[in-house]
Formats: sequence, structure tokens, C-alpha cells
Amino acid sequence: MTQTPANQAVPHHVAIVMDGNGRWATRRFLPRVAGHKQGVDSLRRCVKACAARGVKVLTVFAFSSENWNRPADEVSGLMDLLAMALGREVPQLKADGVRLHFVGERRGLSDKVAAGLAQAEAATAQNERLILNVCFNYGGRWDIAQAAAALAARGEPITELALDRAMALAHVPDPDLMIRTGGEQRISNFLLWQCAYSELFFSDRLWPDFDEAALDEAFAAYAARERRFGKTSEQMAQAATSASPKV
Ligand code: IPE
Ligand code: IPE
Ligand code: MG
Repeated sequence: MTQTPANQAVPHHVAIVMDGNGRWATRRFLPRVAGHKQGVDSLRRCVKACAARGVKVLTVFAFSSENWNRPADEVSGLMDLLAMALGREVPQLKADGVRLHFVGERRGLSDKVAAGLAQAEAATAQNERLILNVCFNYGGRWDIAQAAAALAARGEPITELALDRAMALAHVPDPDLMIRTGGEQRISNFLLWQCAYSELFFSDRLWPDFDEAALDEAFAAYAARERRFGKTSEQMAQAATSASPKV
């Protein structure tokens, strides 16, 4: 969905490329998978912090279509970690009012992992405080292509609106703020379609070190931005004045 609220102090939808786990581990002479484990702890902290600040949707990049090309032991470590995290985290997420969605291609995942994802979604389906989209086996190009293929299969015209509705993230508005940790300044095939008007924030912190203070820094930068959506500064100021209550 493409509607985006006007500027607000706290972003409604935050998307995060959780990058830097491998470097975090390597700097400590640990195997890379130890960094990914620490990354799960950081995600748990981030979910709590976002919910506490009034964020309604959090979308995180956990495993990209391209991450299959990593060494086999890292890939299998990540699959095991996902299965373990599901077992451990879902009861607390359920209690905290978090609704889980897994976004990405299910084909290619083992039956056990796929069943775990479906169970976690069902277990939290009644929750409304925060939607947590975990992008796993996800790529922005995959999403655009699968949406186009679905429309073609139904014989529907390929319009912007129809594509938007066929995307894997059609259940939420576009991200207001996209954060990437780990110092790289690129999108790496994350939400290519949905980030058209997202504010971008790049942090040098490695994902396991991305704490509440770092999140607040990103939110402060966001609050100071002027989002114009193609209009002029003057138009935005005028719209803000006419929308504010008369005294
Ligand atoms: C991000 O951390 C997590 C995944 C891609 C699964 P990385 O593993 O990419 O960490 P760096 O970038 O190598 O430090
Ligand atoms: C993006 O990080 C994917 C995830 C965080 C899951 P990568 O580490 O895979 O991205 P590149 O390779 O540095 O672009
Ligand atoms: Mg990386």
C-alpha cells in the first residue's frame, strides 16, 4: 500500500537492513554465526524499543535471496538459528502484542522451517500492537517479479495500484524510515518498490551494537527531515498550516 502519513516525530513504519553481524563476530575472533546469534538479541531489543515508542510496523531484513551464496555452514547456521529463535521468541512476542509475518519465498526453505513460520504467524495473528515483518529468503526484485507474475496469471492489467496490491508487503503502508546498520550505504535488494519515498538513515554501528540510543538517533534524524513527495517546500508548509487546528 502506498499511502504515507504526513511527517511525524515517530515513524509509523520502520524498515531495517540488519547488517554487520559477521564483522561483529570476526572482531571478537568468533565464528560468524555467533554474530547472527547476537543479532537475534539485538532484534528482540529493537522490537521492544519500537513498540514502546509507538512504531506500528517494523520490517527487518533477515536473509536475502542472495545470502544463499554464502558458505554452506553459515547458511545452515542461519536456518538453524531461525528455527531456534522461533521456538524461543514466539511466546514472548505473543504476550507483547506483536503480530509476526514472514515475507519472502517459502519455496527453497525446508518443510520444517516453512511449517515453523506458518505456526508462528498463526500463533500471533490476533495481535495488534506492532506488526513485525521478517523478510527471509526475500529480495525486492523477487517481490516485483512475483507480483507481476500473479497479475499475468489472472489476466489482470499491470498497473501501479494492481502491482502494489500483489506485493508481499501489501498488508502495510510503505516504510517511512529505512535504516541500514553496519556502515554500508546501499539497499542490497531490500524493499525496492516500497522505499520510493522512505527516508534513509545509515548507521556505522554493527547490528548487534544497535541499541535504543542508536534507534533514537535515527528517529531524531527522521523527525528533522522534510518529506516533500515531489512537491515544493512551500506547498508542504501551506498544507501543514491548513491542517493545523485554528485558534
Ligand atoms: C547481516 O549481517 C545478516 C545477514 C546477512 C544474514 P552480515 O552477516 O552481512 O554481517 P557482515 O556485513 O558480514 O558484517
Ligand atoms: C543485506 O546484507 C541482507 C541482510 C541484512 C539480510 P548483506 O550483507 O547481504 O548485503 P551486501 O552483500 O553487503 O550488499
Ligand atoms: Mg553484510
